[in-house]
Parts: sequence; structure tokens; C-alpha cells
Amino acid sequence: EHMGGNTDSQQDMGGMMHGNVPLLESSKGLKALAIPPILEKQQGQDYDYEVIAQKGNTEFFDGVSTDTYGYNGDLLGPTLKIEEGESVDVKITNNLDEPTTFHWHGLEVRGEIDGGPHGGIQPGDSQIVTLEADQPAATLWYHPHIDGSTAEQVFKGLSGMLLIDEKPSSASQLPTEYGVDDIPLIFQDRLFDDNKQLNYNKLMNDDGTLGTVSIINGTIHPKLTVTKPVMRFRLLNGANARNYTFRLSNGDRFTQIASDGGLLDEPVETKSLTLAASERAEILIDFSKLTDEESLSLINDEGIELLPFDVALDDSPASSPEMWTADEPFLTAQEKARPVSKDIELFGMMDMVTINGKKFDPNRIDLRQEQGVTEVWEVYNKPDMMGGMIHPFHIHGTQFKIISRDGKEPEPNEQGLKDSVLVNPGEKVKLLVTFPEEGIFMFHCHILEHEDNGMMGQIEVF
Ligand code: C2O
Ligand code: CU
Ligand code: CU
Repeated sequence: EHMGGNTDSQQDMGGMMHGNVPLLESSKGLKALAIPPILEKQQGQDYDYEVIAQKGNTEFFDGVSTDTYGYNGDLLGPTLKIEEGESVDVKITNNLDEPTTFHWHGLEVRGEIDGGPHGGIQPGDSQIVTLEADQPAATLWYHPHIDGSTAEQVFKGLSGMLLIDEKPSSASQLPTEYGVDDIPLIFQDRLFDDNKQLNYNKLMNDDGTLGTVSIINGTIHPKLTVTKPVMRFRLLNGANARNYTFRLSNGDRFTQIASDGGLLDEPVETKSLTLAASERAEILIDFSKLTDEESLSLINDEGIELLPFDVALDDSPASSPEMWTADEPFLTAQEKARPVSKDIELFGMMDMVTINGKKFDPNRIDLRQEQGVTEVWEVYNKPDMMGGMIHPFHIHGTQFKIISRDGKEPEPNEQGLKDSVLVNPGEKVKLLVTFPEEGIFMFHCHILEHEDNGMMGQIEVF
């Protein structure tokens, strides 16, 4: 409840100090939810996959063409699936009129190919990167990370899912049929101008662009027909800045099974789940107990309908997958007792945001850490005179564990691998951080406008 409660207070504060937080419009359930296609393997090429950043046109509103960006298409990108342990060569091509980068959010790759601000690809250029899924199955994503324009490029449509798949041999009985009982959901909020264009500059908000229109996988007013009794949803908060608290419209519980970096130590039954920008969660919803008259939707904590479900179950057996408990404790006593070796202070708002009092400088290394050596980072969200705001703190090149929030054990749904963590105003969050690969990595606030405004630093892993 801690985070949910703070989400509310952040929004109250938002009303006072960070401009009005516009409410989302409820989904009218007019269109079938788009499911991003799976990226097909290339045949007869010296690479396995190709991802092209390009310009496009999207019909969000009937009969109106909106200028957008997409990967291999008009909007968003195909889902790139890599199997646990697999290594794939991906050709990345920039067909935009401006430089971009391809960042693999949550994937533990070498700094060189991580697609941070140093990885700029000029218009017309290509590169081949080798992505190795040397980490547990998880819901990750990819997006641009070009210094100063990340927010705008994402806002226009550049984002895609990157899934690390469990090995087919794995014992998990979780739903795995992509698009059938395993559904990716990219939540974003968008602002359209009078001509129904995503006119970013005019609408820019230094504390993050908050839109009034909810899109899921790029669909406005989506609905989803559900055919299986137990469905797995992979939730990505792909918004520039908005926090989402998800609930079911009938107040029922659902089961969170995974956090950013993979399965939780133990599934968690919950009635609500908060994700800050860039966080992911996998959940199971059991539709088998609904009566014929009952309707169900995914809503947010303001009661706004995000995704109405059309329940038309086939005759698959309604057996819930078996749940699990990790044999090892989430953190050992030793890990909990480790001293802090890195202090991170998040501060400010609008364009006055800093980390440890500084703004991003591509020519400055802020921190160093040895490859494979675990350290404790303490991230403090220092309030300002007016209170402050939530900052989602993200580290590249690692999946970390949350040791504590203000000295308290993290909630069960945060007892899993994470790469982004919601830090409330005034809060101190301790993280257990190891980098498996070397190179230069970014750490930053994932409110994309804060990132573009310099709320970012660099760590060199040696
Ligand atoms: Cu989602 Cu630095 O990135
Ligand atoms: Cu990232
Ligand atoms: Cu921030």
C-alpha cells in the first residue's frame, strides 16, 4: 500500500506544483487490442534479426493520419524473443532523419552495445550487435536513448518488447502462447494536438509529458477478447512519465508472477499493482470464475477503464499453473548487512534535476565498479521545499535486488530482480548491484524528460 499511497500523494502534489496531472480517458472498447508481431528470424543473412527505426503514419483516430515513429513499421516495434542462454545477431538500422540509438532495457550486455547516448547511429547507418540472453527469462524492452531526444522519440512511437523466453524444457506451466494466453501490454499516455498530431515540442512538460489519451500497444479504446481461463499479461509502463496503478474492475485479486528481471521468488496475490515509468510486471488473471453477466476490465486507481475484456472462454481446463517458492531466501543475512558503498542523490524537478548535484556530461565518468563485484547503492530521493516527486531510478547493464526501503524489507512483489525502482520523495532505497559485463553504463531517472534534462550519470564497469 506504501507505493500506491504515495502515488496518490504525488498526484496531489502534481496538482499543486507540477502542473495539473491530466486524467486519462476511459477506454470505450471500440477496437481490438493490437498485438505487436513477433520479429521473424532472417534467412540467408549474416544476422538473425533486423530492427529498423523509421517514420510512419498511424490511424489512431478514424480517417486521420498521425505522424509517428516505429521499428519495422509505423508505430512501436515487433517483439524480439530470445531464448534463455541464446545469443543472436541483430542488425540495427536508422532510417529516421535524426540520430538515434537502440537500447536494450534490462538486458545485461556489454556497455559498448547497450545503446546508451554514446551509441548514436546516424541516419542511413546500420550496425550489427550480438545480444546474449545470459540471464533468467524476463520481460524486457527496447527503445532509443539519444541524448536530449529520448523523450520525443519514445513519445512518437519508438518502443518494443524484448522477451527472454524460458527454455522449452523448463518445468513452468505458465501460459506461453504469445498473443493467445501470453499477452504483451505496453501502456502509454499520449497528448494529441487539434490536428490529432503528436506535436511533442509544443506540449513538452519538463517534468514529463502526461497525456490524456491512454494507448495500449498503440491502440486507443482497446478491448481484448479472452479465450483462455488463465491469462498471462506482461505489463510494461512505457509512458514518458506517468505512474500506473492497476486494478481489476470487480476488485478481485490477480497474481503477480514476475518483476522487471524475471519470476518473483514467490507469486503474490494482490488487488493493485503500481508501475512507474519503465517498470514491468507479469501477472496472471483467472477468468474462469466470472459469471456470464459479469464484465471485467483492467482499470487504474482512479477508476479509469484501461482495457475492457470480452470473455469468450474456449473449453480449455481451468487449472491454475502451479505456484512456486524459491528454496533460497531472497537476500541472505550477509547481503542485508552489507555496508553502502555508493550514494545516489536524486534531486529537483523540471529542468533543474540532478543526480549527486550534477547534470549528465557524456565526457564525465561519475562512478566506477568492478565487473562481477557486488556493491550496495543507496538511492535517496531528496525532497525539495515543496515536497518533491517520485523518480523511477534505472540502472543499465544489471538486474539488481532491492534490499530495503527506508530500512524496511521490500514488499513481496519487489522480491525479484529489478532494473528500475520507484523512489518516493524522501525515501532511501538500498540496492544490491552487480554488473556481469564491463563497459560504460547509464543510471538515470526514467521520467524521460528528466533523463533528457540531465538526470543521468555514467558508471564505468572495469
Ligand atoms: Cu529504459 Cu536508460 O533506459
Ligand atoms: Cu535501460
Ligand atoms: Cu525524475
